[in-house]
Amino acid sequence: MKLIGRVHTWMTTSKTSYPKKPRVASSGDLVLDRRREWAVAATADGFHQAAAEIYEQILERAPFWAIVWFELGEAREKLGDRSGAIAAFESAAARDPDGLLAADLRLAALGAKQTPLAPAAAYVAGLFDQYAAKFDHHLQETLEYRGPALLRAAMERACEKLGRSFHFSRVLDLGCGTGLMGQEIRALCEWIEGVDLSPRMIEEARKTGVYDNLQTGEIVAFLAAQPAAAADLVIAADVFVYLGDLAPVFAASAKAMAAGGFFAFSVQKTEAAEFIVGNDMRYAHAPGYLNALAGAHGFQTISLEDASTRKDRGEPVPGLVVVMRKT
Ligand SMILES: C[S@@+](CC[C@H](N)C(=O)[O-])C[C@H]1O[C@@H](n2cnc3c(N)ncnc32)[C@H](O)[C@@H]1O
Repeated sequence: MKLIGRVHTWMTTSKTSYPKKPRVASSGDLVLDRRREWAVAATADGFHQAAAEIYEQILERAPFWAIVWFELGEAREKLGDRSGAIAAFESAAARDPDGLLAADLRLAALGAKQTPLAPAAAYVAGLFDQYAAKFDHHLQETLEYRGPALLRAAMERACEKLGRSFHFSRVLDLGCGTGLMGQEIRALCEWIEGVDLSPRMIEEARKTGVYDNLQTGEIVAFLAAQPAAAADLVIAADVFVYLGDLAPVFAASAKAMAAGGFFAFSVQKTEAAEFIVGNDMRYAHAPGYLNALAGAHGFQTISLEDASTRKDRGEPVPGLVVVMRKT
């Protein structure tokens, strides 16, 4: 199998961080596959020089193998070889026309490319299709994810502040994943629909039985197909980390929402620019950028609070929990 190869195994080099990339089955040559396994094991043990040398040898025989270019880029980055890493990620991108590896995000994180407005849908769907079965356990137990609980609490405080009932009639859960957000707020909603790019995440969400409807699809297209001014809560827990430019989702949410409705979401936080992409291949957004989007799209910011929704390698990831109201 050439190019990316068929994705079927999930091997995390660290169980305490967020998965970044889909994995591949085979180069079509068992000897090369075995060598790559050695390199992956060397990486896991911190032997980045040895790993880089093995990857380079593999690529002499299999220059088409995009993921090995990608992994060589990661190894060179660990070794402090920025230009070598950039060259390897560029080679990966050139051999990955569907963007399944999202090497452009790594190039942006290295400052070698402008920050993409969004990752390729194939990357997000591939990543979460592989992650789906392990998602709840890994995220909640290992990474101590608490986005849904933080969002629920922020919305409850916002309702108290506004003297509004803590109840919603038509709820859209953007990037619903396995349904953790839906489970957290089902009792507050008359009707709740979830959408996600990953069919396997949707399958997991279906098993919870909490959604009135579920769709596999992209958030902005999903919102655009909604009846106008009908939703009174649009919620996105840990989803905008997979979108850079949030203007389209603000615009489409505004159209789908009734006046007085809530738009609630979490993001990773930066102050460096409107949005950036980090080494974790996730986006971070600036508070000023979110407030400016609110102003431009008819939202009032009710609360924008520093809060970490999860840990990475044991450290809280800086984030924001935001509740806006459609004016
Ligand atoms: C980290 S998970 C969070 C899932 C869920 N909201 C939760 O709190 O557990 C992010 C989810 O967003 C989905 N996603 C990311 N970008 C998307 C997009 N543009 N359209 C639809 N789903 C998207 C991914 O497939 C993934 O299931």
